[in-house]
Amino acid sequence: MTARILDGNALAQRLRADFKTRAEALAARGTRPGLAVILVGEDPASQVYVRNKVNACAQAGFHSAKISYPPDVEPRVVFDKLAELNADPAIHGILVQLPLPKHFDSDAVLKAIAPAKDVDGFHAENIGALMQGHPRFIPCTPYGVMQFFADAGIDPRGKEAVILGRSNIVGKPMAMLLLQASATVTICHSQTRDLAFHTRRADILVAALGKARFVTADMVKPGAVVIDVGINRLPDGKLCGDVDFAGVSEVASAITPVPGGVGPMTITMLLANTLEAAEREVR
Ligand code: GUN
Repeated sequence: MTARILDGNALAQRLRADFKTRAEALAARGTRPGLAVILVGEDPASQVYVRNKVNACAQAGFHSAKISYPPDVEPRVVFDKLAELNADPAIHGILVQLPLPKHFDSDAVLKAIAPAKDVDGFHAENIGALMQGHPRFIPCTPYGVMQFFADAGIDPRGKEAVILGRSNIVGKPMAMLLLQASATVTICHSQTRDLAFHTRRADILVAALGKARFVTADMVKPGAVVIDVGINRLPDGKLCGDVDFAGVSEVASAITPVPGGVGPMTITMLLANTLEAAEREVR
């Protein structure tokens, strides 16, 4: 079997065209969707992510503000800025790029974002709403993965879904969304015994563990849908996912590539959440 490739760039482009139209409709009524992104420190990957987020806003006709601080900034300065942004009517979404430097209490920072502007969906209140099955903001990466399923006509109902990775950003919210969609969900992690036993049972396999080409063809059930959330840099500078794409695409029925799969969808769903926040305000 040669897997169908789930093209994140194509899907992202279609969704973003719709968001642009909706943003123009809002702007005509006097509200331009606005996103504020806070970056602390000089981590090169975070700098690229933040730049891509700001550029995506401009292309969709959103207002954006990028606020950068040196790595040794006093946490109080960031908390004061968050209070200001929480009260700013031009800003509908606020995002603090993670990871933060070690002298920050990340949970406290995320809690200082007004839940109604928490477009990452990382505030405890929004995580609670997601767990209760009536989410306000869905974390962007798993939200993007669910868009692939909807677009490709893949219904998780009754399927065995196995997630590799238990992070707050991907693994845990992904599990909640698949559960909500009536899949039977297993989360595997670094302490899981016999990982391949689990992966070989998966009708839907989501790899988000951060290890280059970790998932090989022998670990995948024939016909499975394989979603690769990993972004790893190889010694030659090229990007690759957590899945051995060449091998696994011979076994799976559908697969996301890296780059060009989940990555473009994550930023797309950040736009979706920002737009939804602005639309809620105008309603
Ligand atoms: N760092 C890695 N992924 C993310 C994300 O989705 N949101 C934020 N704020 N930081 C991240």
